[in-house]
Parts: sequence; C-alpha cells; structure tokens
Amino acid sequence: MSEEMRYLTFALGKGRLADKTLELLESIGITCEEMKDKSSRKLIFVNEELKLKFFLAKNPDVPTYVEYGAADIGVVGSDIINEENRRVYEVLDLGFGKCRMCVCGPESAGELLKHHEKIRVASKYPHTAKDYFYNKKHQTVDIIKLNGSVELGPIVHLSDVIVDIVETGSTLRENGLTVLEEICPISARMIVNQVSMQMEAARIKKIIGMLREKI
Ligand code: PRP
Repeated sequence: MSEEMRYLTFALGKGRLADKTLELLESIGITCEEMKDKSSRKLIFVNEELKLKFFLAKNPDVPTYVEYGAADIGVVGSDIINEENRRVYEVLDLGFGKCRMCVCGPESAGELLKHHEKIRVASKYPHTAKDYFYNKKHQTVDIIKLNGSVELGPIVHLSDVIVDIVETGSTLRENGLTVLEEICPISARMIVNQVSMQMEAARIKKIIGMLREKI
C-alpha cells in the first residue's frame, strides 16, 4: 500500500441500516471494530491499515455529505436518495432494508383518493409525496411535513393520509391504519461522490465488485 494513499471516507446512515451495513462490509474484509461500541459518543472512526474512515450521520444528511465530497461513499435507503435528490452516483442495491413507500390512512380515506379530492398528506418525505400526487396522479393536495411518528397524522386529524415507509406493517395495524396505495419499493443503496468516482476509480470499483459478489 503506497504511503501517499488518501483515506476513503464512508458515511453510513444511523439506525436500522447501520448494523447490516457494517456486517456486509465485514464480509469483504472491511472492518471497523471501534464502530460497534454502542456506548461510544465518538463520531468518526479510522481503519489505518486500509486507509478508510467511517462516520455515522442522520439518514437525510448522508447524500449531502456525499454530494459535497465530505464522504466518498454513502450507504442509505433509496427513500432518502429519492427525497434528497442530490448529485451523486447510485452504484449498488445492497438488497437489505427492504420496505415500501406507501400512501396510508384509515380505510375510509380510500374514497378521497379515488375521487381526487383535495386532501391533506402528512409525511417525512414531502418531495416524494408531492412528486407522487402532482406528477403521477395529477391530484392537487396539501402536503404537511412531519419529522417522525407520522402515523399520528390521520389519528389526530392533522391529515387525511400519510406517505411513509411500511416494513412489517405493524405500526399501521396497531394504529388502525392501512396501506391505500403503493408508491415504490425501497432498499439500501450505495452512493458515490461524482469526483471520487473518477479520482479513486480503482479502489471504489474494487469495493463495488466485492460487494456485488456477496449480495
Ligand atoms: C418507520 C416508518 C414507520 C415504521 C414502519 O418509522 O416511518 O413508522 O418505521 O415500520 P413497520 O411497518 O415495520 O411498522 P421509524 O421507526 O423509523 O420512526 P419515525 O417514524 O419516528 O421516524
């Protein structure tokens, strides 16, 4: 390994995806022991031997770090990639973190959708919701941005429906809501900074190749 080799930096989405991502990287020999310590408040981790750095970020910030080159590589859900619409290359579907982006609500809201009424839509994904209703369904709606626990929207009558990810469906079931329409399937993806893809082509392509074999 040459002395002048620079660090490749990975931005990983915090939460559900992080453990699976570390597991997958480990399977191709990319390890970061320090990162597994859940009690640590440290934000950035280094593998000196492989000249790699890793940091955990809030999911919606992962594409931002990658677009600006603060990270060369990012791992995050396609829900976030679609919502953030950053200039990055999406290079690999990692095949885990599978769920669906859906329009959900009480059964009764089905009628409002059918008749193209001007409904209120609560979501953590306002761009995705807007794109779906305006560009695909040609339906005018009011979009209300929320930051989590979106299922509350219809329950407390903030909104008629929500646009959110559904994995097992248990959050919906336990709150008397149901899937009304499916927007698209979601899974974890690897994204790469556009300049890094040129400048560090050999190293990045090698990682992509090894991951592809594992998936
Ligand atoms: C996500 C999503 C749903 C739930 C879906 O929320 O927004 O609420 O998981 O999973 P399920 O179909 O398996 O029940 P998350 O746990 O990330 O929390 P948040 O809503 O507070 O962001």
